[in-house]
Amino acid sequence: MNRGISAPYLTAINGIKEYNAVRSERDGKKPSAFVLTLGCQQNEADSEKITGMALSMGYTLSDSPEGTDLIVVNTCAIREHAEQRALSLIGQYKHLKAVNPDIIIAVCGCMTARSERADLLKNSYPYVDIVFGTASLQRLPEFIYDRINGSKRIFAEDDDYSVAEGLPIKRESSFKAWVSVMYGCNNFCSYCIVPYVRGRERSRAPEDIIGEVRDIVGEGYKDITLLGQNVNSYGSETGGKFDFPGLLESLAKIDGDFTLRFMTSHPKDVSDRLISVMAENERVAKHFHLPLQSGSDKVLREMNRKYDSQKYLGTVEKLRAAMPDIAITSDIIVGFPGESEEDFEMTLEIVKKAEFDMIYPFIYSPREGTPAARREDMIPDAVKSERFDRLILLQNELSKKKNEAWLGRTVKVLVDGMSKKGNGLYTGRTDGGKLVHINSEKVKIGEFTEIKITGADTYALYSDEK
Ligand code: 5AD
Ligand code: SF4
Repeated sequence: MNRGISAPYLTAINGIKEYNAVRSERDGKKPSAFVLTLGCQQNEADSEKITGMALSMGYTLSDSPEGTDLIVVNTCAIREHAEQRALSLIGQYKHLKAVNPDIIIAVCGCMTARSERADLLKNSYPYVDIVFGTASLQRLPEFIYDRINGSKRIFAEDDDYSVAEGLPIKRESSFKAWVSVMYGCNNFCSYCIVPYVRGRERSRAPEDIIGEVRDIVGEGYKDITLLGQNVNSYGSETGGKFDFPGLLESLAKIDGDFTLRFMTSHPKDVSDRLISVMAENERVAKHFHLPLQSGSDKVLREMNRKYDSQKYLGTVEKLRAAMPDIAITSDIIVGFPGESEEDFEMTLEIVKKAEFDMIYPFIYSPREGTPAARREDMIPDAVKSERFDRLILLQNELSKKKNEAWLGRTVKVLVDGMSKKGNGLYTGRTDGGKLVHINSEKVKIGEFTEIKITGADTYALYSDEK
């Protein structure tokens, strides 16, 4: 169903465009919008739709909140810290309303999908005009239109979770693109807020995804990441008529010079067919992000992860057998309620066995409303931090070894920017997603190039041959 471009959406876009045209004339400059994105790639992808809609409404884009006419904060709720950060940033916009009472401040994303946070914004942040949840993104123009026409402050609850198609997208990069393939999550891991703030799983139609990827490959995009909370569940609502390996295979057949990536996969349902589609299609990057979360079977059970350490390691083995060069990365939570020293040591053990290229370690953060947050056996902060440090120390050693294995090899990288290390160095990403600092004048940002790896440390590879 095409839900994005509705009649109210078009009326709102046109109405705001006219309103902005009048203000341009009056002020001698176009009204501008600032979009602040916190959190994960899904939020980055959503924000590209927000900026796309802002352009359609006649705003120019600004990279600072000062002096703008519209601010949209796209929030994250995965950990307490993310919410505190959002609230503190929003707090800084109070003075902007004082300077310009016409400014519209909107807050959306995962934090606002939590009613206690929406209430807090309503009661304690009176300068926030519009608050809406993750499933109401396409209604932003309607909310702005109502507000400029004098409506009261708007607090919209998500009530329609069907997939919205056809929204304009202003991509951040001209060669890397996010493409959402599904939204929401049905897994209810006991620590995680995502199923509560992003709703149940729903997949985009394959023809919409294939059309979008074909279009952006035609525009010259080189690195395309398919996004979903658990891409392995793609198409499950359709009774599996079109599943994720099938989608990946169809996308890999599109003509052009590009790499396909995807995230995230739940270890409980990585199929053999997905592994073979990856192995057989050169266009699919040899990188697998496979969140382990814990190495203790007891903790995994309590997390409601539905796999054990043996099954997890079995998948890692299958991936390496099919693709010896594959990079495997993972998410790990330390300090889940009740995690004993022995449980944590099992995590260290599995980290050693799995030989991850890199991990994203997290300190468990209780999320109100999730089952784990109701437990009484919380781990003290000092213990959590100490475990976090030990995990990082171990992984740093392992990452260094994994990176050193690439020394002397010639690899294909996508050059993606200038290195912060200075001296005219470029950065690039390998097929496995590893960062490479490239010392060469011959390379060009946004293009693939073959380079020889001449250095490696914990965090990156280096290519020093001019
Ligand atoms: N506390 C800490 N980390 C969490 N994650 C999800 N929920 C929490 C939480 N409550 C981590 C998981 C997930 C990643 C995106 O964030 O590791 O894979
Ligand atoms: Fe959260 Fe688990 Fe869903 Fe991932 S699979 S989004 S960790 S509930």
